[in-house]
Amino acid sequence: MSNAEMVQYWNDSAGPVWVAQQERLDAQIGPLGALARERAAIRAGERVLDVGCGCGATALELAEAVGDAGRVVAVDISRPMLERARQRAGTAGAGTRVEWRLDDAQSAAFEGDAFDVVFSRFGVMFFADPIAAFTNLRRALRRDGRLAFVCWQPSDKNPWMLAPARAAAQHIAFPAPPPPHAPGPFAFGDAAHVRAILERAGFADVAHEAVNGPMRLAGDSVDEALELCLQVGPVGAALREARPSEEQRARVIGAVREVIESFETPRGIEAEAGAWIVTARKA
Ligand SMILES: C[S@@+](CC[C@H](N)C(=O)[O-])C[C@H]1O[C@@H](n2cnc3c(N)ncnc32)[C@H](O)[C@@H]1O
Repeated sequence: MSNAEMVQYWNDSAGPVWVAQQERLDAQIGPLGALARERAAIRAGERVLDVGCGCGATALELAEAVGDAGRVVAVDISRPMLERARQRAGTAGAGTRVEWRLDDAQSAAFEGDAFDVVFSRFGVMFFADPIAAFTNLRRALRRDGRLAFVCWQPSDKNPWMLAPARAAAQHIAFPAPPPPHAPGPFAFGDAAHVRAILERAGFADVAHEAVNGPMRLAGDSVDEALELCLQVGPVGAALREARPSEEQRARVIGAVREVIESFETPRGIEAEAGAWIVTARKA
């Protein structure tokens, strides 16, 4: 997918769904974002660039962390998600320290040497040209500036997303699996590939920390988790694309419900997930 197609996807297709489901999505991926933020070791007064900031949760947390003397620039290509972020930021407190910017992080003309940290929660796997994108982000960092982001490991380490998609694919057309490393949620699953991208873009001390284990899926019930799964991610995208008949749709819902039911535990709806916390430094 080209960046232009990504712009369309995150504005017209996925963006409105992420806005509608923002609270549940924040609850689901919040702990992984918090871990990446911890590894970024943000200090008061620092200047942070939040890449693919979406509906703004992490930019607002970063603004709390940098305090009054700090600064956060939050960039995203999705107009509806940024609008939601602006609303959440409000007109008082930490939110006023965030500059929201509608732009493509791969090519945006950021000020050079302007940031101490480049951060992202699942917002850096969608670039058509990741080397160009990370070269651009490196330029925005000061010397020795830090990079910290969280991304997904390969799809087979993420049955929370893969298993419902496989079940749905029995009943509706799914796009052919993308080529390895193609832009998308699993583009950065291969640690060696990501290390090569970052080193070619001028980063040093690239480190991958594996985070594997059960992830609490959003929603307190099977019905809520099912609703999210039918809207967001590969199942949601396939349902929007395939425009199934009522009968096909019912079969998809039944199949995905069975998978979600299999994720039920006494603690809530949980499934295995695998993510990388990636850190590096501007060489
Ligand atoms: C999976 S969402 C994550 C959103 C947010 N970081 C969060 O954790 O809630 C990916 C985000 O990356 C954004 N994105 C994709 N390609 C981008 C690009 N080239 N430049 C800036 N943002 C991009 C999307 O619009 C979307 O908001």
